Amino acid sequence: MKNIVILISGRGSNMQAIVRASVSEGWNARIAAVVSNRSDAAGLAFAQERGIATAVVDHKGFDGREAFDAELARVVEGFAPDVLVLAGFMRILTPDFVKRFEGRILNVHPSLLPAFTGLHTHRRAIEAGCKVAGATVHVVTAELDHGPIVIQAVVPVLPGDTEATLSARVLAREHVIYPRAVRWMVEGVLRVQDGVVLHTGGESQLLV
Ligand code: GAR
Repeated sequence: MKNIVILISGRGSNMQAIVRASVSEGWNARIAAVVSNRSDAAGLAFAQERGIATAVVDHKGFDGREAFDAELARVVEGFAPDVLVLAGFMRILTPDFVKRFEGRILNVHPSLLPAFTGLHTHRRAIEAGCKVAGATVHVVTAELDHGPIVIQAVVPVLPGDTEATLSARVLAREHVIYPRAVRWMVEGVLRVQDGVVLHTGGESQLLV
């Protein structure tokens, strides 16, 4: 049975989708813990109600990124993660942290990477006149919002879309692709070749 640790900063809807899928699909894995950098993260209550261990490592209590990440790593390590899932975790991780869990960290980003790394992805996609938008699950490397792509979902950008309407459309797809990607990690069916992730069973890594 593999251990999944999920890091959140807020609402935690992706975390919830992963918890639900792990139960309904009977994964050979347990959600060992949900860890947040904010004590007011709404997602913590959902985890607690389901008897999932939670922890808070508040970044404001640390003098710099290195000190915060060292404590975060210590707490996360305590739950012995096989897969570490960043689900709306809004902190940039240090190279040391990434190295410690190398190849085991996944992130979801609300754009079709490598386009629109960073923040305000939906606003930027609308302003650029993009006709499609989407979300990407990728393996985390030291470079922000980069790293081998596990799965992408594509949605249309519709006339009249606002940041709110587009983000809702994308988020609904995140809830489909992120659990799928985490399950693949649990199943050990992904292989990275020349920086590209392949599903060894040939499952589609694109949701349109
Ligand atoms: C999601 O849309 C996720 O893609 C995004 O934050 C949201 C979190 O929602 N992540 C990033 O922007 C990371 N750079 P959630 O807390 O409801 O899962």
